[in-house]
Amino acid sequence: MTNIAVFASGTGSNAVNLVKTFNSGNRIHVALCLTDKENAPVIEKMRELGVETIYFPRSVWKENPQVIIDTLRAHDIKVIALAGFLCFLSEDIVNAYEGKILNIHPSLLPAYGGKGMHGANVHKAVIEAGDTKSGATVHVVTNEIDAGPIVVQREVAVLPDDTPESLEAKVHEVEYLIFPEAVMKTVAGMTPPEPPKSVDDSWAEALGVPNNVPPIPNPQPSPANQPFQTNPTGPTFQTSPTGPTFQTSPTDPINQAFNPAPQALQNTMPPTYLVWSVLMTIFCCTIPGIVAIIFSAQVSSKFYQGDIEGSRRASRNAEIWIIISFVLGVITSTLWLPLMIAGGL
Ligand code: GRF
Repeated sequence: MTNIAVFASGTGSNAVNLVKTFNSGNRIHVALCLTDKENAPVIEKMRELGVETIYFPRSVWKENPQVIIDTLRAHDIKVIALAGFLCFLSEDIVNAYEGKILNIHPSLLPAYGGKGMHGANVHKAVIEAGDTKSGATVHVVTNEIDAGPIVVQREVAVLPDDTPESLEAKVHEVEYLIFPEAVMKTVAGMTPPEPPKSVDDSWAEALGVPNNVPPIPNPQPSPANQPFQTNPTGPTFQTSPTGPTFQTSPTDPINQAFNPAPQALQNTMPPTYLVWSVLMTIFCCTIPGIVAIIFSAQVSSKFYQGDIEGSRRASRNAEIWIIISFVLGVITSTLWLPLMIAGGL
């Protein structure tokens, strides 16, 4: 379980969406909401959803950020999501959670970012400029406004009859998709991949049969347990004018989470192979085909519960069982065909 916190100052529809996306699963949990606005509508909404919500006046955010950091640590918070948070974050907080604070912005950054560019101001500026596309961006928070590395970005079309309000509604819709996606990427980047399971283990898991194989101990210390980057063996950051960069290999999952390839941003769920599973069940060998279908179905359900590693494993297993079904299908038909021809003669 990875605890995350949401910081919000306004209506909080993104905050609510994160809670609804994550809090019924068991991998990521919105455990805390902090706000700088005493009467922000988000407070009531989060409390109704059972999320502990605390108001800290601006003076605390500005002059005593250690109180905020202590509160986050007391709740074991690993990642922070800024969902319409209008208070400037002090350097102490940004540094304490370097690389683990995400902000959602209602434009295609770097366009329409920076001071004064928030909410309706952004949508008005886009329409006044006559742009034909806008969108939303989730980026890592650094000490420069709206300038950290982009984690996920998605476009929407701006139509000639769009108003700032209609554009805002469209942008909100994509925000509800990309913010959970960015949180999952960030959490996935903090969790080392699990060792691959054997086909027997996967079979037992799919059918709900108890698995007697003892778990393989993981010798690596989990970065998820080191949110403040104090361990010298953990990944290190280097602050550059363009934001933090990681000192890990390009294939390292933590690097991919923060510096993903543009195409990976659009398509992060592993392939389900559902069509192949169904085809194999019908045309090749039925039982392994059904096992492949079970794994295919798990790919998306696990992904949307935040279980990225489980989703990848299910995808791999679906692939394996498709191959098994195909091979058995070929062997069976090779054996039966001559017999049937001989019987026909
Ligand atoms: C969103 O459009 C987000 O991009 C921006 O503030 C708005 C917050 O909306 N940072 P809501 O409070 O989540 O509805």
